[in-house]
Amino acid sequence: MSAPVIVVGAGIAGLVVALSAAPRPVLLICRSESDGATPLAQGGIAAALAPGDSGNAHIEDSLIAGAGCNELAALRLLAFQAPSAVAWLASHGVDFDRDATGHLRFAREGGHRCARVLHADGDATGRAIARALAAAARQAGHVQRLSGPEVGALLRRGGRIAGVEARDARGRTQRIEAGAVVLATGGIGALLARHTSPRGADGGGLALGLAAGAAARDLEFLQFHPTALAHTGPDGRLPLITEALRGAGARLLDAQGRPLMQGIDPRGDLAPRDVVARAVWRATLGGAPVWLDARRLGDELPRRFPTVFALCQAQGIDPRLEPIPVQAAAHYHMGGLRTDLFGRCSLPGLYAAGEVACSGVHGANRLASNALLEAVVFGRRLGRCLAQGECADAPAGRLRVIGRGADLSDPQPLRQLLWRGFGPERSGTGLRAGLDGIAADPALAQSWQGRLAMNLLQAALARPQSLGAHWRCDAAPDHRRAA
Ligand code: SIN
Repeated sequence: MSAPVIVVGAGIAGLVVALSAAPRPVLLICRSESDGATPLAQGGIAAALAPGDSGNAHIEDSLIAGAGCNELAALRLLAFQAPSAVAWLASHGVDFDRDATGHLRFAREGGHRCARVLHADGDATGRAIARALAAAARQAGHVQRLSGPEVGALLRRGGRIAGVEARDARGRTQRIEAGAVVLATGGIGALLARHTSPRGADGGGLALGLAAGAAARDLEFLQFHPTALAHTGPDGRLPLITEALRGAGARLLDAQGRPLMQGIDPRGDLAPRDVVARAVWRATLGGAPVWLDARRLGDELPRRFPTVFALCQAQGIDPRLEPIPVQAAAHYHMGGLRTDLFGRCSLPGLYAAGEVACSGVHGANRLASNALLEAVVFGRRLGRCLAQGECADAPAGRLRVIGRGADLSDPQPLRQLLWRGFGPERSGTGLRAGLDGIAADPALAQSWQGRLAMNLLQAALARPQSLGAHWRCDAAPDHRRAA
C-alpha cells in the first residue's frame, strides 16, 4: 500500500483533495469538526453555464477584477473546468438551487457581467457543500479523520516534507509520518481587527510552510469585503452580508441616504469588490454609517437569503423594513504559499490547496464566487495527482522537526496593528510603523503570528504601486483601476 497523505484542514479544499486522492489512504487532520470558512460562505460557485455565457467571458471578468495580474494558465483551468467542478459537487450530493421550471438558478455578484453564480440552499451554499462533502468523506474507506489536534510543526526527512507534529488540547505531541503533506488551512483574516473569517483562519498553515522554507507569493494581496454587518464580535469577526444581495437589487447608501457608488464607478454597486470596499471604507473613516438598503426585496429576502436574514434578526434588524449597517472587513487572502497547477509547493512533499495556496489564479483581487470554485478545481487536480502515487516513497535520512514558533497569548494588539497598517488603504509610513511596532515588542516579534505579520507588511512595503486590493494611498494610483 502506498504511503498515506496527511491533509491539514477539513474545509472544502481539504475535503476535495481527500476525496479525490482515493484509493490512497488519507489522514484528514482538523482542529474542530465545525471550524473553517466553508460553512460561512454565502456566495456560491461561479461557472459559465447560463445560456449566452462562456468560459472566456468568465476569464475576462476574473482578469478585470484581478487587475490583470492573474496567472493565465491557472485562470483558464479555473474557468473551463468550472462546469465539471459543478457536476462533481452534484455527484457528491450538492443540490444546487433551481427555478420553478427545474433549470439551474444563476445569481449575479460584483464584477460578473451576467448572472453566473450557483447557490445551494440560497445563501447557505458553503454549509450545503461542507455537509455533502463531509458526509462523502465519512463514507469513503480511504479517509480517516483526526479532529482536535493542532498541527504546529512539519517533519522533514532527506530534504522532503515527511509528516507533521500535532498537539492535542492537553499539550501532548504526536509525530505522524506521511508520504505527502497537504496544507488546506484557510486564510489569514482572523489576524486583523475586522474580518469575516472563522477564528481558525489565523494564517497558521501559511506560517508553517514559511517556517519550513516554502516560497510565498502575492502576500500583500488581501481582499476586503464591502458589506460585513457593522457589529464586531469579540475576536473581530463581523457577519458577512453577501454580495448577492446587491446582485438582487440591494443598494449601498451613505450617511445621508444617497447612493454611495454613484460617481465612483460606472458599474455602481456591482463594481469589483476592491473598488466597492474602498468606497465603504472611506465613507466610514470618520465614524459615519454606510447602509445596505435591501428593502425592495421584501419577503423575497428571508426566502432567498435566510442566512443574512437570521444574522440581521440576531442584531435586532429587520432588513425588509430598515437598511443594514455595513463596514468593510478583511475577507480573503489571494496570496499564500506558491503552488504550481497541481498544488505543489516549492518544497518536495509539501502541497497546498484553497486559500492558503497561491497559484496566482486570482491576481490582485479575487472575482466573487471564484474561491469555492478554485478549491474544487485545484483540489481535484491535486488529489488525482496524489492518487497516482506522487511522493509515495518513504524518504530516507534523519527526521527533523520544523516548528513555526511560539504562540502569541493575546492576539488583539497584533490585530489592531495589522488593521491600521495592512488595511484597505496602506502607506509606506503606516507599513513601517507596523514593522517597528512588532520589532519593539519581544513577545510579538518572537511569536509565529508576529513573524507572519512582518512577512505581510514587508510584502506590502515592497509593492509601492496600487494594484487591485493592495491600495497604496502614498502612490500614484493605477489609472486602469483608479477609484
Ligand atoms: C459573498 O457572498 O459576498 C462572498 C462570496 C465570496 O467571497 O466570493
